[in-house]
Amino acid sequence: MVKSLQTLEPEMLKPGVKAPVKETLLTPRFYTTDFEAIAQMDFSGHESELKAVIEELKSDYNRHHFVRSEEFEKCWDSIDGEKRLAFIEFLERSCTSEFSGFLLFKELSRRLKNKNPLLAEGFGYLSRDEARHAGFLNKAMSDFNLSLDLGYLTKNRTYTFFPPEWVIYTVYLSEKIGYWRYIIMFRHLESHPENQFYPLFRYFESWCQDENRHGDFFKVLVRSQGKLYDNWKARLWVRFFLLSVFATHTLTVLERSTFYDSVGLDARQYNIDVIEKTNETAARAFPVILNTKHPDFFRRLEKCSENNVKLTEINNSNRPKIVKLFQKVPLIASTVGHLLRIYLTKPIDAEATREMVC
Ligand SMILES: [Fe+2]
Ligand SMILES: [Fe+2]
Repeated sequence: MVKSLQTLEPEMLKPGVKAPVKETLLTPRFYTTDFEAIAQMDFSGHESELKAVIEELKSDYNRHHFVRSEEFEKCWDSIDGEKRLAFIEFLERSCTSEFSGFLLFKELSRRLKNKNPLLAEGFGYLSRDEARHAGFLNKAMSDFNLSLDLGYLTKNRTYTFFPPEWVIYTVYLSEKIGYWRYIIMFRHLESHPENQFYPLFRYFESWCQDENRHGDFFKVLVRSQGKLYDNWKARLWVRFFLLSVFATHTLTVLERSTFYDSVGLDARQYNIDVIEKTNETAARAFPVILNTKHPDFFRRLEKCSENNVKLTEINNSNRPKIVKLFQKVPLIASTVGHLLRIYLTKPIDAEATREMVC
């Protein structure tokens, strides 16, 4: 189980302000990139598509959506124990990743303002939405007498440098996987209202449309740059990023089954549904997608998750370092082997099937 659940008390930075979780490979990242290289990208052949998605973003359909209803105005101490901690962790991870998007988009909008005003306008709308999402989640945390110090996070988190191509691939995928995560949970709770233990989930339907529009904006960026889809290197990178995002999703979801149990979702099935839908959607932007129907696809990802749980147990144990090392090596080798075999499995040619999926 996740470390925070062992203590049953969240770690505090100061009274009422939660200490951010320790950064690991699986915690939401903060990104920076080569802003100048993005400013130099040529979008001239795709200006009409770009204008169309920016017009959609400009419409700001959700400008009145993120207003807390009266339903929030009550004491939430009835959500307690492991369920409370698992939910707080869900809020924190979601808030951190929304806020990470806000910072990146805000910076892109600021840096491109004079060099590419159209793109800057689009990124400005994206940052507007992510700020709302992060703020709404942080307000939800305050119902549990906690909040995240977003100013502290801005200054103290490690920023990972990604070249523009990697940013475009990963943000496209994280927006689309975000869409599917929110909508699948919303639809499940709509048909099982007895599990809707907090009103936040009711907001997910319109909320996920923001993520969908963000993804569409990035889809235009992918399709506007031939080098991002029209060559063998792009095909290899796309497979790599699809696998990274899906493996990270599997590890984080299966490790946090307590939270999914609390809303009546089977973590394993939820992971499969989110990945399959995201993979299908990615066929609209990427030249290849992964073969999630391969009998070994989810079996291998789930094996990686089992290895990850064992690795966490070893890391948290009091055994001598050398013993830990000997216990960890076979698990790491097994994970690398499984990922490599998924990576090398024949992908599905999305260019050939694009007519069918669009
Ligand atoms: Fe968002
Ligand atoms: Fe988004």
